[in-house]
Amino acid sequence: MRGQDIVLDQVEITYPNGFRAVEPTSLKVAAGEFFSILGPSGCGKTTILRAVSGFVQPSAGRVLIGGADMAGIGPNARPTALIFQNLALFPLMPVWENVAFGLEARGMPKAARRARAEELLALVALGDQAGKMPGELSGGQRQRVAIARALAVEPAVLLLDEPLSALDLKLRQHMRAELRAIQKKTGVTFIYITHDQGEALTMSDRIAVMNAGRVEQVGTGDEVYSAPQTAFVASFVGEANRLEGCITATAAGMAQIDTPLGHFRARNPAGLGQGQQAVLFVRPEAMQLGAGENRLQARLERRDLEGAFVNLFFVAQGHSIAMHVTNSGAAHLSGDEMQALGFDADQAVILPPGPLARTGQELAAQ
Ligand SMILES: Nc1ncnc2c1ncn2[C@@H]1O[C@H](COP(=O)(O)OP(=O)(O)O)[C@@H](O)[C@H]1O
Ligand SMILES: [Mg+2]
Repeated sequence: MRGQDIVLDQVEITYPNGFRAVEPTSLKVAAGEFFSILGPSGCGKTTILRAVSGFVQPSAGRVLIGGADMAGIGPNARPTALIFQNLALFPLMPVWENVAFGLEARGMPKAARRARAEELLALVALGDQAGKMPGELSGGQRQRVAIARALAVEPAVLLLDEPLSALDLKLRQHMRAELRAIQKKTGVTFIYITHDQGEALTMSDRIAVMNAGRVEQVGTGDEVYSAPQTAFVASFVGEANRLEGCITATAAGMAQIDTPLGHFRARNPAGLGQGQQAVLFVRPEAMQLGAGENRLQARLERRDLEGAFVNLFFVAQGHSIAMHVTNSGAAHLSGDEMQALGFDADQAVILPPGPLARTGQELAAQ
């Protein structure tokens, strides 16, 4: 098997009811890359995948796979295979026949089909399950059968649309490593869609972060986490403390921002100028007790023990500030006293105001 590259060239997708689900988008996914599209529900991830697989035609722009323009080429004629969340195995067929299903249509004789199915089952670590029925397998095993089946037709590109979301947490975490290993072994290009940042960060070579039909940033997990370019990316990928303010000075890639909690210095990747409104983002793990170049005073309100880590929630003049520390670092803290918190300038980023990701609390209140 061999991966092929995918190019979206100014692809725009408007549904027949007039709703534009994807704004003009250009992207290049390298052959053999594990590429994720990460974003909240409804942002257009599945729509992009449909355009790559051929189930939806772009209203404008081009999709190229392996350099070939896919205009007018139907889903069956594309070198892609698709895996959904709710995979459907044939319940009355043994596992190996499920995997070999697509090969019969290609005229492969039964013995060769079985041999190929067993090879693929070994690849997804189910070498000893070929004769079982799907109902005898666990959820994670069934998902791996679906992957083996998709790989049987030797796609150059495997499109995975939230394939793990029906599984429980432990299994999901285990399957991350499995999927990554399968992708590495086969060299097939993976486009993996998820709303789960943990999945995207752990598995991907690169991630496209999407919001409301737009790709806001493309980069490695480290890049989108540590160097977000928009307020949405900073708030959707990981947690972030947020303070609004006005830029008062700039110098050499850094800026100073005047916020209700004081003046702070931080990175200024967007090159914002003096007098502009902006938002400061600081990760909870970048907050320190009694240290750091930027300082503020806050009162501890809640302490959530996670085991190895502790989440501390402070309040400073009505603003909540979260801090994430190792358990040993927070043992002595108690409520009510004011604490000096701090963070270093290179651990914080100042970005232009813009749409933010909704918090878990807001989503739960829906
Ligand atoms: N067939 C359709 N007709 C009209 N609107 C659609 C259709 N399919 C999806 N949409 C809308 O397009 C947007 C993006 O949908 P989708 O790509 O499924 O998002 P995601 O996969 O990121 O959750 C949503 O607002 C959705 O309601
Ligand atoms: Mg979707």
